[in-house]
Amino acid sequence: MAVDFFPKQKITKVVKILIEHIPVLPEEVIKYLCPQKDGIYIDATLGGGGHASLIASHFGKNGKIFGIDQDVEALKKAKAKLDKYGDRISYIPDNFRNLAQIILQFSIKEVDGILFDLGVSTEQLKSPERGFSFSEKFNTPLDMRMDFSQKLTAYDVVNEYPEEKIREILYKLGEEPYAKKIAKRIVLKRKIKPIKTTGDLLGVIRESTPPKYRFSRKGHYASKVFRAIRMEVNQELPALEEVIPKAVDILKKGGRLVIISFHSLEDRIVKRTFKEMSLSKENKKPLVRLLTKKPIMASPSEIEKNPKADSAKLRAVEKL
Ligand SMILES: C[S@@+](CC[C@H](N)C(=O)[O-])C[C@H]1O[C@@H](n2cnc3c(N)ncnc32)[C@H](O)[C@@H]1O
Repeated sequence: MAVDFFPKQKITKVVKILIEHIPVLPEEVIKYLCPQKDGIYIDATLGGGGHASLIASHFGKNGKIFGIDQDVEALKKAKAKLDKYGDRISYIPDNFRNLAQIILQFSIKEVDGILFDLGVSTEQLKSPERGFSFSEKFNTPLDMRMDFSQKLTAYDVVNEYPEEKIREILYKLGEEPYAKKIAKRIVLKRKIKPIKTTGDLLGVIRESTPPKYRFSRKGHYASKVFRAIRMEVNQELPALEEVIPKAVDILKKGGRLVIISFHSLEDRIVKRTFKEMSLSKENKKPLVRLLTKKPIMASPSEIEKNPKADSAKLRAVEKL
């Protein structure tokens, strides 16, 4: 008799765990956001709705979440997951840069808390057609847009930016030690024919880096280049820089702002902006109180279950 080692249900569960986004620092988000039963919250990076579902589980009848995401696919999935909360959750397809205008549309002046969980979700990374994945298994067009309506794609960055700009992006956003060689080779190759796919870009990176570097480093050899291009395509640092003061502006007195970042430059922006806002300047009172002097990081047991949490840093402030 044939033995069914891998029942269908079990396989589906394993695949779901691999693809579904697991919210990082779940307990810490709740601790610092401190959701109130009838509070109004903004999840500025709704993604798969993991954190929103945790926040909503603390709600009474009148709790409300405005869920923003610039990725309409993410919003669809979040809506399916959070359906039971009905109109207590709104799904807003927009860039969080437009926070002030978004809130005005709903005639809301102040909120009790705002969460940002930056970067991309596991669903985005694992959907090959989005072009975020550096896995050799896929070979898809260079896209990397979170917002499908945006014009700039990874193809444009790779095929149209000048060499110096590509080098700077790879150095700065990717911290890629072979930035110079990779940028040079990109420009050389694209003169022959356009670099169209993730596979084409992987080929260029392979040709520009020594085997020792590719095989000895922690993580995939192309992860830094792909992350840098993704951050440029989606203008991730400028959006973050722009939104923090806007977020503090619409918080109620005693309201909380929680930001989870995954990149040293993002964390630097959050740290610096929070610090500046917590100091009194030219007879002006401080705007916020720091709730985290140092960033909160995931425990080894969380990292074991969710490796993405390894680079997560959470910082939080309370509006004064
Ligand atoms: C790390 S995921 C969030 C996951 C979510 N917290 C959860 O638990 O499922 C980040 C999400 O933020 C979105 N995002 C990133 N930058 C954005 C921006 N500037 N405006 C709106 N959405 C953004 C991405 O599309 C992605 O879905």
